[in-house]
Amino acid sequence: MRLSVAIDGPAGAGKSTIAKIIGKNFNLMYINTGAMYRAVTVLAIRNNINYSDIEKLCTLVDSLEIHFEKDKIIVNNEDLSDKINMPEISNQVSNYAAVLEVRERLVKLQRKMSEKYDVVMDGRDIGTVVLKDAAFKFYLTASPENRATRRFKEFIDKGIDVKYEKILRDIIERDYIDSHRKVNPLTKAEDAIEIDSSNMTIEEVVAFITNCIKKDIYEALD
Ligand code: DC
Repeated sequence: MRLSVAIDGPAGAGKSTIAKIIGKNFNLMYINTGAMYRAVTVLAIRNNINYSDIEKLCTLVDSLEIHFEKDKIIVNNEDLSDKINMPEISNQVSNYAAVLEVRERLVKLQRKMSEKYDVVMDGRDIGTVVLKDAAFKFYLTASPENRATRRFKEFIDKGIDVKYEKILRDIIERDYIDSHRKVNPLTKAEDAIEIDSSNMTIEEVVAFITNCIKKDIYEALD
């Protein structure tokens, strides 16, 4: 059986940073499922397809070959890694991610990836839907203010001029949409271990997850 680690949680909790490190440490392929929803959003907007146009959206998603190469997302041979993080994509992605038909297709792809590789996958519905049988499930949270501060610093470090209040508002709005949508809303899986990273460093979170995985592996070997 393949090893899979699921990391869910709201935007800005540090999932991707943590998942990348866990992937390297345990030799797992890192699958950033948020990047997949973002890539669909990039291509839908490029092709003038609104999130309410389900038929066109389905045709678009069915025409996509998506894979990850060294943390880059490649879609139909195009590297979309930079485009997916543009502010206009962040503002629209929740709407596209709420479409049942889009989710069904991406969930199918994600499961296929987990059958082919040992994976660490981060997202919103990994422990509850995509990899219900994952050996390890974590739910990573932090307060909205804390997450907004981290995002704010990331933008400032990149020289991008942003307002903290706007980032905080966007995070609260995205939390609301992600956790109130009808299909696969953001919730903690019953068997997931919750980690509130508000007062933890990245190293502390990585150490905690690493210990959980190692402890289980050693117990299984005993
Ligand atoms: O993690 P992120 O900010 O890159 O996610 C982008 C959007 O996609 C966000 O609105 C939540 C949504 N998403 C989802 O619905 N299910 C996932 N498994 C991953 C992301």
